[in-house]
Amino acid sequence: MLNDIKEVLISEQQLNQKLSEMGKQISEDYKGKNLLVISILKGAAVFMSDLIRHITIPLQIDFMVASSYGKGSTTSGSVKIIKDLDIDVRDYEILIVEDILDSGITLSNLIKVLQSRNPKSVKVCALLSKPSRKQVEVPLEYEGFEVPDEFVVGYGLDYAEYYRNLPFIGILKEEIYS
Ligand code: IMP
Ligand code: MG
Repeated sequence: MLNDIKEVLISEQQLNQKLSEMGKQISEDYKGKNLLVISILKGAAVFMSDLIRHITIPLQIDFMVASSYGKGSTTSGSVKIIKDLDIDVRDYEILIVEDILDSGITLSNLIKVLQSRNPKSVKVCALLSKPSRKQVEVPLEYEGFEVPDEFVVGYGLDYAEYYRNLPFIGILKEEIYS
Protein backbone atom coordinates (compact mmCIF):
# COMPACT_ATOMS: atom_id res chain seq x y z
CA MET A 1 0.00 0.00 0.00
CA LEU A 2 2.76 2.48 0.91
CA ASN A 3 4.48 1.75 -2.39
CA ASP A 4 1.51 3.29 -4.20
CA ILE A 5 2.04 6.68 -2.58
CA LYS A 6 4.08 9.27 -4.48
CA GLU A 7 4.37 11.73 -1.62
CA VAL A 8 3.04 12.32 1.88
CA LEU A 9 1.19 15.62 1.65
CA ILE A 10 -0.08 15.99 5.21
CA SER A 11 1.49 14.00 8.02
CA GLU A 12 -0.24 12.36 10.96
CA GLN A 13 1.20 15.03 13.22
CA GLN A 14 -0.03 17.89 11.03
CA LEU A 15 -3.50 16.33 10.92
CA ASN A 16 -3.58 15.98 14.67
CA GLN A 17 -2.48 19.57 15.20
CA LYS A 18 -5.12 20.89 12.80
CA LEU A 19 -7.90 18.82 14.37
CA SER A 20 -6.97 20.12 17.77
CA GLU A 21 -7.26 23.74 16.54
CA MET A 22 -10.54 23.05 14.74
CA GLY A 23 -12.01 21.25 17.74
CA LYS A 24 -11.12 24.15 20.01
CA GLN A 25 -12.72 26.68 17.66
CA ILE A 26 -15.87 24.59 17.21
CA SER A 27 -16.15 24.16 21.00
CA GLU A 28 -16.06 27.95 21.43
CA ASP A 29 -18.39 28.75 18.54
CA TYR A 30 -21.09 26.26 19.54
CA LYS A 31 -20.95 26.70 23.29
CA GLY A 32 -24.45 26.53 24.77
CA LYS A 33 -25.90 25.41 21.43
CA ASN A 34 -27.53 22.17 20.39
CA LEU A 35 -24.85 20.81 18.06
CA LEU A 36 -25.43 18.00 15.58
CA VAL A 37 -22.33 16.87 13.68
CA ILE A 38 -23.21 15.13 10.42
CA SER A 39 -20.61 13.08 8.62
CA ILE A 40 -20.88 12.23 4.95
CA LEU A 41 -19.97 8.58 4.53
CA LYS A 42 -17.67 7.02 3.82
CA GLY A 43 -14.82 9.45 3.26
CA ALA A 44 -15.45 11.69 6.27
CA ALA A 45 -15.82 8.88 8.82
CA VAL A 46 -12.18 8.88 9.91
CA PHE A 47 -11.97 12.67 10.11
CA MET A 48 -15.20 12.93 12.07
CA SER A 49 -14.31 10.30 14.62
CA ASP A 50 -11.02 12.04 15.39
CA LEU A 51 -12.46 15.56 15.26
CA ILE A 52 -15.27 15.00 17.77
CA ARG A 53 -12.70 13.89 20.35
CA HIS A 54 -11.21 17.38 20.14
CA ILE A 55 -14.62 18.99 20.77
CA THR A 56 -15.27 19.58 24.45
CA ILE A 57 -18.96 20.58 24.43
CA PRO A 58 -21.99 18.22 24.31
CA LEU A 59 -22.94 17.12 20.81
CA GLN A 60 -24.76 14.45 18.85
CA ILE A 61 -23.62 12.74 15.66
CA ASP A 62 -25.42 11.33 12.65
CA PHE A 63 -24.47 10.04 9.21
CA MET A 64 -25.59 10.51 5.64
CA VAL A 65 -24.71 8.86 2.37
CA ALA A 66 -25.25 10.96 -0.73
CA SER A 67 -24.38 10.85 -4.40
CA SER A 68 -24.86 13.61 -6.90
CA TYR A 69 -26.43 13.40 -10.29
CA GLY A 70 -24.81 15.08 -13.25
CA LYS A 71 -21.30 15.06 -11.84
CA GLY A 72 -18.80 16.47 -14.31
CA SER A 73 -21.45 18.34 -16.23
CA THR A 74 -21.83 22.08 -16.00
CA THR A 75 -25.31 22.01 -14.53
CA SER A 76 -25.47 21.10 -10.89
CA GLY A 77 -28.00 18.32 -10.57
CA SER A 78 -29.77 17.39 -7.42
CA VAL A 79 -28.43 15.09 -4.78
CA LYS A 80 -29.58 11.55 -4.19
CA ILE A 81 -29.73 10.61 -0.53
CA ILE A 82 -28.88 6.97 -0.09
CA LYS A 83 -28.85 7.00 3.70
CA ASP A 84 -30.72 9.73 5.50
CA LEU A 85 -30.57 11.11 9.04
CA ASP A 86 -32.35 9.33 11.86
CA ILE A 87 -33.63 12.47 13.57
CA ASP A 88 -35.68 15.63 13.00
CA VAL A 89 -33.15 18.47 12.76
CA ARG A 90 -35.41 21.42 13.62
CA ASP A 91 -33.89 22.09 17.04
CA TYR A 92 -30.28 21.61 15.96
CA GLU A 93 -27.34 23.62 14.74
CA ILE A 94 -25.93 21.38 12.00
CA LEU A 95 -22.25 21.07 11.26
CA ILE A 96 -21.59 19.00 8.14
CA VAL A 97 -18.22 17.29 8.26
CA GLU A 98 -16.75 16.42 4.86
CA ASP A 99 -13.44 14.90 3.81
CA ILE A 100 -12.75 17.01 0.74
CA LEU A 101 -14.44 19.84 -1.11
CA ASP A 102 -13.81 19.17 -4.77
CA SER A 103 -16.32 20.55 -7.29
CA GLY A 104 -18.64 21.40 -4.41
CA ILE A 105 -21.67 19.99 -6.22
CA THR A 106 -22.54 17.27 -3.72
CA LEU A 107 -22.12 19.53 -0.74
CA SER A 108 -24.04 22.50 -2.11
CA ASN A 109 -26.99 20.26 -2.92
CA LEU A 110 -26.84 18.62 0.47
CA ILE A 111 -26.87 22.00 2.20
CA LYS A 112 -30.04 22.89 0.32
CA VAL A 113 -31.70 19.63 1.33
CA LEU A 114 -30.79 20.13 4.98
CA GLN A 115 -31.79 23.80 5.02
CA SER A 116 -35.24 22.88 3.70
CA ARG A 117 -35.76 20.92 6.93
CA ASN A 118 -35.46 24.15 8.94
CA PRO A 119 -32.60 23.49 11.36
CA LYS A 120 -31.31 26.46 13.37
CA SER A 121 -28.22 26.67 11.14
CA VAL A 122 -26.16 24.68 8.64
CA LYS A 123 -22.41 25.11 8.42
CA VAL A 124 -19.62 23.11 6.83
CA CYS A 125 -16.30 21.80 8.10
CA ALA A 126 -14.04 20.27 5.43
CA LEU A 127 -10.67 18.73 6.13
CA LEU A 128 -9.40 19.39 2.60
CA SER A 129 -10.33 21.62 -0.30
CA LYS A 130 -9.16 21.62 -3.91
CA PRO A 131 -9.74 25.22 -5.01
CA SER A 132 -8.62 24.48 -8.57
CA ARG A 133 -11.57 22.14 -9.07
CA LYS A 134 -14.29 24.37 -7.70
CA GLN A 135 -17.48 24.62 -9.75
CA VAL A 136 -19.94 25.73 -7.10
CA GLU A 137 -19.30 28.14 -4.24
CA VAL A 138 -19.68 26.42 -0.87
CA PRO A 139 -19.02 28.56 2.20
CA LEU A 140 -16.59 26.74 4.47
CA GLU A 141 -16.82 27.75 8.10
CA TYR A 142 -13.91 25.48 9.01
CA GLU A 143 -11.23 24.40 6.56
CA GLY A 144 -8.26 22.20 7.27
CA PHE A 145 -5.87 22.26 4.31
CA GLU A 146 -5.89 23.34 0.69
CA VAL A 147 -4.53 20.64 -1.60
CA PRO A 148 -3.26 20.82 -5.18
CA ASP A 149 -5.16 19.28 -8.08
CA GLU A 150 -3.81 15.78 -7.51
CA PHE A 151 -5.58 12.61 -6.45
CA VAL A 152 -5.13 12.25 -2.71
CA VAL A 153 -5.86 9.25 -0.52
CA GLY A 154 -5.68 8.24 3.12
CA TYR A 155 -7.29 9.30 6.37
CA GLY A 156 -10.69 8.22 5.03
CA LEU A 157 -10.17 9.14 1.40
CA ASP A 158 -10.12 6.27 -1.04
CA TYR A 159 -9.19 5.18 -4.48
CA ALA A 160 -11.47 2.30 -5.58
CA GLU A 161 -12.38 1.87 -1.87
CA TYR A 162 -8.78 1.26 -0.77
CA TYR A 163 -6.25 3.38 1.12
CA ARG A 164 -8.76 4.76 3.63
CA ASN A 165 -6.75 3.33 6.51
CA LEU A 166 -3.55 5.25 5.80
CA PRO A 167 -2.95 7.53 8.81
CA PHE A 168 -1.78 10.44 6.61
CA ILE A 169 -2.92 12.20 3.40
CA GLY A 170 -0.80 11.20 0.43
CA ILE A 171 -0.71 11.71 -3.31
CA LEU A 172 -1.44 8.52 -5.21
CA LYS A 173 1.01 7.55 -7.93
CA GLU A 174 -0.49 8.25 -11.33
CA GLU A 175 0.31 4.76 -12.61
CA ILE A 176 -2.21 3.36 -10.11
CA TYR A 177 -5.22 5.07 -11.64
CA SER A 178 -4.19 5.81 -15.20
P1 IMP B 1 -17.70 17.03 -5.18
O1 IMP B 1 -17.22 18.17 -4.29
O2 IMP B 1 -19.19 16.97 -5.31
O3 IMP B 1 -17.01 17.02 -6.51
O4 IMP B 1 -17.34 15.62 -4.52
C1 IMP B 1 -16.39 15.51 -3.54
C2 IMP B 1 -16.16 14.04 -3.26
O5 IMP B 1 -15.33 13.46 -4.27
C3 IMP B 1 -15.42 13.84 -1.96
O6 IMP B 1 -16.32 13.69 -0.88
C4 IMP B 1 -14.60 12.60 -2.23
O7 IMP B 1 -15.35 11.46 -1.90
C5 IMP B 1 -14.36 12.61 -3.72
N1 IMP B 1 -13.01 13.13 -4.05
C6 IMP B 1 -12.71 14.29 -4.66
N2 IMP B 1 -11.39 14.46 -4.80
C7 IMP B 1 -10.81 13.36 -4.26
C8 IMP B 1 -9.43 12.93 -4.11
O8 IMP B 1 -8.44 13.61 -4.47
N3 IMP B 1 -9.25 11.73 -3.49
C9 IMP B 1 -10.29 10.96 -3.06
N4 IMP B 1 -11.58 11.33 -3.19
C10 IMP B 1 -11.84 12.51 -3.80
MG1 MG C 1 -16.89 11.82 0.26
